[in-house]
Amino acid sequence: MTGGATQDLDLMLVVNGVRCQVTVDSGTTLLNVLRGELGLTGTRFGCGSGLCGACFVLVDARPTASCDLPASAAVGTNVVTVEGLSDGDKLHPVQRAFIEEQAAQCGYCVSGILVSAAALLAANPAPDEPAVLAALERHLCRCGAQRRMVKAVMRA
Ligand code: FES
Ligand code: FES
Repeated sequence: MTGGATQDLDLMLVVNGVRCQVTVDSGTTLLNVLRGELGLTGTRFGCGSGLCGACFVLVDARPTASCDLPASAAVGTNVVTVEGLSDGDKLHPVQRAFIEEQAAQCGYCVSGILVSAAALLAANPAPDEPAVLAALERHLCRCGAQRRMVKAVMRA
């Protein structure tokens, strides 16, 4: 095989509880599948190298940079995006708290932060401030809305 060669892969993914069959190039990231193939555009592209948190989703309940994960590596896992946090029309408590605290400005970073916060709250329903800060430390917010976000997570 020559260096850099790619091949098409047929993958079966489970995203937000739904089985999805996709055919993608072997180098395709999970983020590109979510946004480009499945239309789940709530997950954002930021740095593209695992550093900003904008693209985070849950992979088997673990906050994960989807820009940094080959889609093939998500086969056999349960992927949850920000769209999967709510239960139909019923928002996740952390989504409600973000609205109540007005915890965003442009909103670009928020979907990644919401999934990390949801993972924290699933493991620890009453986190203290250091626990919230630790859970969100991989997320950048250029708008400086972190204070309100931490407050919102504690409220949730
Ligand atoms: S876009 Fe994935 S961490 Fe920045
Ligand atoms: S609200 Fe704008 S980057 Fe966080």
